[in-house]
Order: sequence, then C-alpha cells, then structure tokens
Amino acid sequence: MTSSAAQFSVTLRRSVLSVPAINLRALEKSRMLDCDSVIFDLEDSVAHDKKAEARDNLRQFFAQGRLEGRECIIRVNSNDGGFFAEDMAVVVACRPDAVLLPKVDEPEDLQRVADVFSDADLPGGCKIWAMMETPRGILNAAAIAKYGRSSGGRLEAFVVGLNDLRKDTGVLPEPGRIFLVPWLMQVVLAARAYGIDVIDSVSNDFRDLDSFGAECAQGRAMGFDGKMLIHPAQIDAANRHFGFSDEAVAEAKAIVSAFQEEGADGLNVINMGGRMVERLHLVQAEKLLAKAALAEQRKKQA
Ligand code: COA
Ligand code: MG
Repeated sequence: MTSSAAQFSVTLRRSVLSVPAINLRALEKSRMLDCDSVIFDLEDSVAHDKKAEARDNLRQFFAQGRLEGRECIIRVNSNDGGFFAEDMAVVVACRPDAVLLPKVDEPEDLQRVADVFSDADLPGGCKIWAMMETPRGILNAAAIAKYGRSSGGRLEAFVVGLNDLRKDTGVLPEPGRIFLVPWLMQVVLAARAYGIDVIDSVSNDFRDLDSFGAECAQGRAMGFDGKMLIHPAQIDAANRHFGFSDEAVAEAKAIVSAFQEEGADGLNVINMGGRMVERLHLVQAEKLLAKAALAEQRKKQA
C-alpha cells in the first residue's frame, strides 16, 4: 500500500522573481537567473505612460524564446483599470504558464480572466494566480480559492502582497510582521483548503539579506511554498529557506524505507525508533522527495 512519488505533480516555487517588463536589462538578465519562476510585471513597476512600451517588450521577449525549465507568469493590471484588456491581449499572444491578477477582491474578479481565456480559446495549460493584497481580498480568500478551483477552474496559486495591504490598512512594517501574521495565515489556510500553492510577499530592503533570510524562515514555518522576490540578490536565500535540507531529505527517505519494510504494508502507523509515524507522513515524505529531486535537477542545470 505504499504510494509512489510519481503520483505527485510537483512544481518548485521557492523563488518567484518579479521583473519589470519596462526594464530591458532586467528582462535579459532573467534568462540567466537561478529562480524557480519569473513574474513579468506590467502592473506596479511600470509607469502609466510606459505600459504600451512594456507590453511590446514582453511580446518581443517571448518571441525570442521562453525561459528554460522555469515558470513564466505575466502580471497584468487589475480588472477595473484601463489597461486590463490590452494586457490580456499580451497574455493571449505570449501564452505564459500563468497570468497573475493583482488586487483580487472577490471570486468574480477571476471570472474576467477566465472569460478572456475562453474567448481566445486558450488551452487549459495557462493558469491563473491571484494577488491577495487588499482588505476585501484577505477577507474573501477562502471564497476566492473555492471559486477558482471549482468546475475546472484554473487558479493555481495565491501571492500575498504586503505593500498594498499595509497601504490600505495602515499596519506598520513592524519586525516579525507581528500584526500581519493572522492575515498571512488566513491566506495560507484558504490556499491549503482548496489545494493551491501560496507564495509569501516581497521584502523591499534587498540589501539587508540577514533580515530577508529571517523573513524567509518565518514564511517557510508559516507554510508558504516560496517567496516573491524583487532582486536577484534574494534568490539564493529563498531557494535555501524554501528548499530541502540534507537532514529533511534523509528523514523523508527513512520514512519511505520504514513503510517498505516487511510487515509494514498493511499498517497505517509504525514505530520508527520510538516515534510514531503515520501513513500521512509517508505522503508528506514522498512529496518532499519529489520536490527535492526537482531542486537537485535544477542545481545541475545551473
Ligand atoms: N530582475 C532581473 N534583474 C534585476 C532585477 C530584477 N528584478 N533587479 C535588478 N536586476 C539586475 C540589474 O539590472 C543589475 O544588473 P547588472 O548589474 O548586470 O546591470 C543587477 O541586477 C544589480 O541591480 P542593482 O543595481 O542592485 O539594482 P537596480 O538599481 O538596478 O534595481 C530595483 C533595483 C529595486 C529598481 C529593481 O531591483 C527592481 O525593479 N525590482 C523589481 C521591482 C518590481 O518588480 N516591483 C513590483 C513587484 S513588488
Ligand atoms: Mg501590489
């Protein structure tokens, strides 16, 4: 009754770098960086009078070839501004792995993206990611996740945006994100309830790698899959903190072996050196090993 790691379709999203679509140098650099995913941003990092130029940059960038072995996401402007339709036309033309919709307040916000996809007859492969960064979005996180996953929904990940959330709520950037933790955990819980990934917010101070490392460790402990990044200097720490230590891999292998021992086949709980291990731990261990194998593969390709 052992389950096989092959049954899991896992994707690494430890380091999710935002690259302003207006910045040609950064776009070029993104081809060489060791992050798991790249968000090509048409929203906050692009001034209003530069949106058209940024869209052209993306069209050309994607025409020159996709990023090897890494997920490509395009962040469009939100539904209610004047840029959404033209941004979505770029998505339809470039066919990234996913579109990231900012400032999602209500489940229905996702529908406008899905409508563009069906009008364009875009294959199911193009997924939706949603930014959780408004007070209403956080309050509605569970309903948004449920809606996004229902009837073949394409929602695949939440990304928390604390800059917008702090602006809208007045919460100050305190050490340890103390007053934000309840909202962060609410987003993690909503994501897990409906089986989607969840990415922690950017950290603005890209020169202070000590604080950044601590924030990554906190995000990992809270259950996030990875972190949205703004600068290449943050990639290593994110890959490490959201990655898989040798100890964790050894422990996972030990659990898999324990369940493969003679007699363990029909058991749901076993004694592993004085500690109870359940079959649910086996599933966790196999997922970890599948992700660690992907991370190892990525390291070899780098
Ligand atoms: N993606 C790819 N490359 C990046 C990058 C990014 N997000 N940020 C910086 N770089 C590159 C720079 O082009 C530079 O390359 P080079 O030395 O080979 O010429 C190198 O990394 C070092 O950059 P640095 O000089 O330290 O910073 P900068 O002044 O060029 O950029 C920011 C600083 C904050 C303006 C820039 O990192 C940025 O725009 N980040 C993303 C912002 C964003 O996406 N915001 C929206 C989401 S919150
Ligand atoms: Mg934002």
